[in-house]
Amino acid sequence: MEQLTFIELAKLLISFAVLAPSGHNSQPWKFQVVDNKIIITPDYSKQLDVVDKENRELFISLGCAVQNLQTAASHFGYNSNYIYNDGKIIVTITKQDVYNDDTLFDAIKKRHTFRGSFTGEKIPANSIQSIENEGNVSVMVYESECRESEIIKQKITEGNEIQMSDTAFKRELISWMRFNKKQVNETHNGLCYNVLGFPATPKPIGRKIIGMFLNPKSQNKTDDAVNASASAFCVFGVKENNDRNWIELGVFLERFLLKITSEGLAYSFSNQPCEILSLNQKLQQELALTHYPSVIIRVGYGKEPKNFAPREEVKL
Ligand SMILES: Cc1cc2nc3c(=O)[nH]c(=O)nc-3n(C[C@H](O)[C@H](O)[C@H](O)COP(=O)(O)O)c2cc1C
Repeated sequence: MEQLTFIELAKLLISFAVLAPSGHNSQPWKFQVVDNKIIITPDYSKQLDVVDKENRELFISLGCAVQNLQTAASHFGYNSNYIYNDGKIIVTITKQDVYNDDTLFDAIKKRHTFRGSFTGEKIPANSIQSIENEGNVSVMVYESECRESEIIKQKITEGNEIQMSDTAFKRELISWMRFNKKQVNETHNGLCYNVLGFPATPKPIGRKIIGMFLNPKSQNKTDDAVNASASAFCVFGVKENNDRNWIELGVFLERFLLKITSEGLAYSFSNQPCEILSLNQKLQQELALTHYPSVIIRVGYGKEPKNFAPREEVKL
């Protein structure tokens, strides 16, 4: 690769960082470049006050972006490490001579949150259980037909009943929905009609229609079908609930998502039981988890989507 200035390299790496998942596709990150460092800070204007009061999902999203950035750095022949200090994630980049395995790098552009029912084909036994727990974070993988998965499914149902009856939750969710191309092009963020599989509509009509569909019964119908087609459920947790651990979990989660993507698997989030405190506590108890549940995903095989969630242009 031709010699890049640090700012050119930083822009290149950041273009991969922002392909990370984020709650409601809010992209709650800001980037700064100083010397040989890329500094990532939360963009609190993107906070999800209702669904993510404590900013747990916000910090997990930042951790996902860090993992993408580090994977890209390694691909282009750079070493990187990150520290979290004083509310800032500081990623230091240094030159190295060894080029690393590109499997995870190739998965950055392929990874997406799957929006639909899985094919139902089973994942070969143990294929996703090889990922180790590390540091302050953990993942538990459950095959779809075990007792634990039944508990998770039941908590998803209860979560939908609570969230889909909560006006503030629905208002926030709808505010992140993009109902037509014009709105997508104006924001380059949020949950877009063509990604969710809806036809384009003028915003006021879309809001009205979605408002009618956002109820416990129809959400549970959709989730029941997805849950029934999933091969496995994974619960990610942290030892202590704090910013540092949530970032560490995001790094771990994104590495996991890139790995399963590279293996041809699809996944979707179903985080309701983690987002509602009473359900979160019950889930931890009933699954006998040592860590606090923070993210739930379902894994299976799925078709390649036609449309991808958009990303904002990064301003440095
Ligand atoms: C911490 C976290 C929690 C999420 N929770 C949910 C969820 O409960 N339901 C859902 O459909 N998507 C959830 N998502 C997925 C985002 O909506 C998705 O990442 C975003 O729309 C961007 O799309 P992409 O992942 O395909 O790039 C979550 C993402 C993150 C990082």
